[in-house]
Amino acid sequence: MHEDCERVILTEEEIAGRVKEAAAWLDERFRGTTPVAVCNLKGSAMFFCDLVRAMQTDVELDFMAVSSYGNDTIAAGRPKIKKHLFSSVAGRDVILAEDIVDTGRTLVTLRNFFEERGAKSLTVVTLLDKPSRRKVNVSADFTCFTIEDAFIVGYGLDYAEKYRNLPYIAILKREIYEHD
Ligand code: PRP
Repeated sequence: MHEDCERVILTEEEIAGRVKEAAAWLDERFRGTTPVAVCNLKGSAMFFCDLVRAMQTDVELDFMAVSSYGNDTIAAGRPKIKKHLFSSVAGRDVILAEDIVDTGRTLVTLRNFFEERGAKSLTVVTLLDKPSRRKVNVSADFTCFTIEDAFIVGYGLDYAEKYRNLPYIAILKREIYEHD
């Protein structure tokens, strides 16, 4: 384990097992269709790659970035779209992969975004959900893990852009983010 981490809460194996279940759920739902799978960068990058590789269904891939935080631990108001999709999603079934639903503000922004662009349907799959932090009434269609309100990093999730490449999800030591 990385020396800045206090405790691993989800191992590489636990994540891999649950990601396969999410992929199977999507395969069941989208059999015979070709949805567009959208990765919301950067946090979802690892989850997205593992998820689409575990799917049997043909999917097109697209990428965007919505950012709600600076290098801070507190939500900085309204999420902003930093990078747009490469292709149109009008009339398409969209699968959105999120790493975490926290306050829910990013997800609301994304739901509105896909509706405005005329997506036929939107299915949200999130790796993590922190329902205790919710500020707006929104939820994913498939949640891999519901977790407590702790400062976590790894498998795409960062603190000040660090720790995204850890293969597991761990609680960050308090002294790391309290010293900054
Ligand atoms: C994080 C995370 C989610 C969002 C969830 O993104 O990846 O997209 O916040 O928070 P919310 O439910 O409170 O809106 P962040 O803005 O940190 O960008 P990143 O993915 O590039 O790390």
